[in-house]
Amino acid sequence: MRILVTGACGFIGSSLTDFLLEQKHEVVGIDNFDDFYSRKIKESNIAQALKNPGFRFFELDICSRDAWEKLSTHGIDTIIHLAAKAGVRPSMEKPVEYNEVNIIGTHLMLEFARKQGIKKILFASSSSVYGVNKNLPWSVNDTNLLPISIYAFSKLTGEQLCRYYHENFGLHITVLRFFTVIGPRQRPDLVIHKFVKAISEDREITLFGNGNTFRDYTFIGDIVAGIVGALTYESQGYEIFNLGNSHTVGLLELVATIEDLLGKKARITYLPEQKGDVPYTWSDIQKTTELLNFHPKTDVREGISKFIDWYKKEFAQ
Ligand SMILES: NC(=O)c1ccc[n+]([C@@H]2O[C@H](COP(=O)([O-])OP(=O)(O)OC[C@H]3O[C@@H](n4cnc5c(N)ncnc54)[C@H](O)[C@@H]3O)[C@@H](O)[C@H]2O)c1
Repeated sequence: MRILVTGACGFIGSSLTDFLLEQKHEVVGIDNFDDFYSRKIKESNIAQALKNPGFRFFELDICSRDAWEKLSTHGIDTIIHLAAKAGVRPSMEKPVEYNEVNIIGTHLMLEFARKQGIKKILFASSSSVYGVNKNLPWSVNDTNLLPISIYAFSKLTGEQLCRYYHENFGLHITVLRFFTVIGPRQRPDLVIHKFVKAISEDREITLFGNGNTFRDYTFIGDIVAGIVGALTYESQGYEIFNLGNSHTVGLLELVATIEDLLGKKARITYLPEQKGDVPYTWSDIQKTTELLNFHPKTDVREGISKFIDWYKKEFAQ
């Protein structure tokens, strides 16, 4: 298999790329080092993969038609599309930029696949597409999707484009809805990274929603296992799977766990919910377990502990 991983230098993309290379797949990676967070972190994420002869990397923007033209000679047979502008809150500040990358970039990827005759595509979607749906845990059979952020809207539109390309051009597309991913290399804007950094530096942390929000935190190793499950799953259709831990944890419990693992107390400011933030996320993974043999193994405490080990090594503390 020659697999194109878009967003290869990011948190999930680099972790997946390392795993695929270990499994002796040939991987072509692209990334434009989007300025959402530091290029240095992304270069460090991908450093190991760059030493592997099975990996070829190109600094390309998924919104550029020329970029896709350049990829047309690489014999790609599978695409794992992770490149995106990620994050709920920042999408409210840069709504058009989010839609450009997450919708137009995805559309250009699908056009590339259609023209190249690439059948198999995995698309990284998000739990945020369920939005304020109150029917918990969220099942992929529930079509009552109520996104409340531009990011969620852009992901849902990406899903719909995928469905369109399946129905009209026969592409085999698997949509994976990730639930808050945790572990080594986690993005600096995400809560565990932010809190570990702030508490380590004796800075205050802010709990939005007055601490009363809940998330289904899912370890990166389990996410990679789920993606690989989808890669080997024989489907000619358009299918959607939740990739979550199926266990929801409150923000206060999360902070207490970080405090305990760091051996330090947090100084906390409580603020009301931010626009775009949903109160809870919780995945129903029955279909994923049955069809992708998905069994999340790492709980939140262990995931945070592994993040802290990485953080200390990476930022030399
Ligand atoms: N991390 C999570 O908790 C989570 C949850 C749900 C969904 N997702 C989705 O998973 C995917 C990966 O997320 P992540 O957490 O690894 O984010 P990330 O920001 O670490 O990785 C995304 C990568 O895409 C690249 N990128 C952005 N715009 C690009 C463009 N125009 N052209 C080429 N590359 C571009 C970035 O430089 C980055 O390296 C995204 O699609 C995200 O929306 C992530």
